[in-house]
Amino acid sequence: MKIKKAIIPAAGLGTRFLPATKAMPKEMLPIVDRPTIEYIVKEAVDSGIEDIIIVTGKGKRAIEDHFDYSFELEENLKRKGKYDLLDEIHKSSNVDIHYIRQKEAKGLGHAIWSARKFIGNEPFAVLLGDDIIKNETPCLRQLMDRFDEVEQSVIGVQQVPESETHRYGVISPLTEENKLYQVERFVEKPPQGTAPSNLAIIGRYLLTPQIFDFLAEQQIGAGGEIQLTDAIEKLNKVQKVYAYEFEGKRYDVGEKFDFIKTTVEFALQRDDLRDQLMDYLVELHQKDYRL
Ligand code: G1P
Repeated sequence: MKIKKAIIPAAGLGTRFLPATKAMPKEMLPIVDRPTIEYIVKEAVDSGIEDIIIVTGKGKRAIEDHFDYSFELEENLKRKGKYDLLDEIHKSSNVDIHYIRQKEAKGLGHAIWSARKFIGNEPFAVLLGDDIIKNETPCLRQLMDRFDEVEQSVIGVQQVPESETHRYGVISPLTEENKLYQVERFVEKPPQGTAPSNLAIIGRYLLTPQIFDFLAEQQIGAGGEIQLTDAIEKLNKVQKVYAYEFEGKRYDVGEKFDFIKTTVEFALQRDDLRDQLMDYLVELHQKDYRL
């Protein structure tokens, strides 16, 4: 069965980026000149997703405006003959995007559950906005190819340093074949030193609709929130849930320092900015700011 719908949860408060996120959604923070959420939407579209539902919350209107048609802006750009910029803004408007508001910030599991009526009874994708993944075959597409083989839920994982496993959902693998794992357990944010492996869940999921049966129980997990990982752990007991170690470089834009690194790397990958930025970085390297 083809996966056509995706959920992008975007209801978080963005406290790590305060005060920037006081009046602006963290999903709108730009990497060079594109809001982070646009990279996520692009990955979904490039993977073949046809409908996206963004779960928003209070203060997230800018996301809706961003993906909306802007008559004034388009007319202004046309009058000035700025067709290259027109092309740029059109890139983010050729997919059907829907919105739903999560009334309370009760965690990722609750955000996904809020979108259940939009999904109905078919398998679907979830993409988290804090992880941008660069690869020729988009990460979600890689998971979809595995889904076509196993026709069961597939969760994206990557290896992380052992010292960081407590920040993630972590799997306890049973068997592996071509980077596809059968999983014994899924554990959300294991306390330091207790993680069953260093294979961490990295923000990309393909789930069967049976997940909603477990999300409906609304049990509170790690951090006092309703956790998606806990529902996946329960689903795995009645219906196999696979993990796939996907290919691609992951940029964690939910962390301040990684956000800065991502901005610099993405700028260095652009022809219009590379040389200038390189010169500037060399110049900075010669000064010592720690003095
Ligand atoms: C969420 C998930 C976690 C996953 C992480 C990274 O945690 O709950 O399982 O490993 O994203 O994608 P958060 O970073 O929102 O605390």
